[in-house]
Amino acid sequence: MESLRIDNTGKLIVSGMQQANGILEISGAKNSVLPIMAACILTDEKIILRNVPDISDVNTMIEILESSGKTVNRVKDTLYIEKSEKINSEIPYEPVRKMRASFNVYGPLTVINKISKVALPGGCSLGARPVNFHIDGLMKLGIESKIEHGFVYGKIKPIEKSEVHISLDFPSVGATEHILTTATLIDGVKTIINNCAMEPEIDDLANFLNKMGANIEGIGTSKIIIHGVKKLHGIDYKVIPDRIEAGTFIIMGALIGKNLTIKNINAEHLESLFSKLDEMNIEYNLKGNEVKISSSLNKKLNATIIDTAPYPGFPTDLQSQMMVLCSLIDGRTTIKENIFSNRLSIIDELNRMGANIKAENNNLAIVDGVRFLSGAPVQATDLRSSAALLLAALVAEGETIINNVDHIFRGYEKIEEKLKNVGIKIEYYE
Ligand code: EPZ
Repeated sequence: MESLRIDNTGKLIVSGMQQANGILEISGAKNSVLPIMAACILTDEKIILRNVPDISDVNTMIEILESSGKTVNRVKDTLYIEKSEKINSEIPYEPVRKMRASFNVYGPLTVINKISKVALPGGCSLGARPVNFHIDGLMKLGIESKIEHGFVYGKIKPIEKSEVHISLDFPSVGATEHILTTATLIDGVKTIINNCAMEPEIDDLANFLNKMGANIEGIGTSKIIIHGVKKLHGIDYKVIPDRIEAGTFIIMGALIGKNLTIKNINAEHLESLFSKLDEMNIEYNLKGNEVKISSSLNKKLNATIIDTAPYPGFPTDLQSQMMVLCSLIDGRTTIKENIFSNRLSIIDELNRMGANIKAENNNLAIVDGVRFLSGAPVQATDLRSSAALLLAALVAEGETIINNVDHIFRGYEKIEEKLKNVGIKIEYYE
């Protein structure tokens, strides 16, 4: 656990042209376990969470739950979350600064304590990330928010209406999760969220809440209905596999795989990726919850067009990794980032490695394929760009030094060990 520190400027030294051969197992989903942990505030009873990845974002959420008055014990990939003392309604700045998802405790804390004070999450390298949809939606549930000195002060008052309609301007993942979780305990009120996000992690959260005694309908659709209840109880729950970790390693397999087997995936959650790989003529063998893949770089592959979109569209969290693959495919690929205003910063780093990518209007990457990449010192700016730079380094000629790489520990469990098991050597230096 000690090595999992962020805000540190660790670096990875990677020799290129390695081959990944063997079995790689996918861990539980970061973007599912974080909102589920935030929802644990809604009950005093014991919650057992299984398949929880050992990553620094989970540690940050543990810190937040403990500062709110919970005790959290971890045994391997299982968390035991219990109430230790009165739930404290204030969450300090430090953990929220480290991780935006921590803001999702705001609604549950306010419902449980009637008042709350939570730090406002700042921006991040992906561009402006306001929480206006969260605040506006919670307001309709009776939560008045006052923003002062970088904190949001919440106060809940009973609402007269028995039915509340919330329509999101954009299917925001975080806002959907936050409103959905909070609405479960607005007793006797029917909340309808329109144009909500449909990511599999939201289904997992809703299934978790329903198992706790919530009454949620429309799971997996763009219209979720929540019938508020009085109380939620403790449960034992297993989190879904991480589709973004799986997608990252599948793309690694297309680059440097040699009969690489990736186990414990949910193929349905990765349909947009598999259909892109089919279009590009990249071979893989999918059977049940595992996929076998080898490098296709020596084959005739097709350039393509990628537009990131809310689920079931192509995930923005796999956009940078796909850019690495497309940078080595003959022809012109365009990649349009439609979710975040500033998620193409990796372009300069890949061009330092010999790629030929141009950025247009901050959200369009024009990728002209080159025959190979070459190792170079590069800089990571966020979780997924650090993973993408690792893929580029593994396929490049020569050595690459990835600076500011600690982001990677936020979302990839035991990455050094997992890669070592498939014959890949990377060295981490603090
Ligand atoms: C979640 O972030 C994920 N994080 C992100 O994964 C993922 O990239 C993103 O969804 C989109 O799929 C977690 O689940 C912890 P959004 P979130 O609210 O909830 C704007 C990773 O690498 N917006 O769907 O923050 C916002 O600025 C991370 O694992 C508002 O304008 O994403 C963005 O442009 C990175 N106002 C867009 O909506 C709001 O109130 C989508 O954001 C909320 C969002």
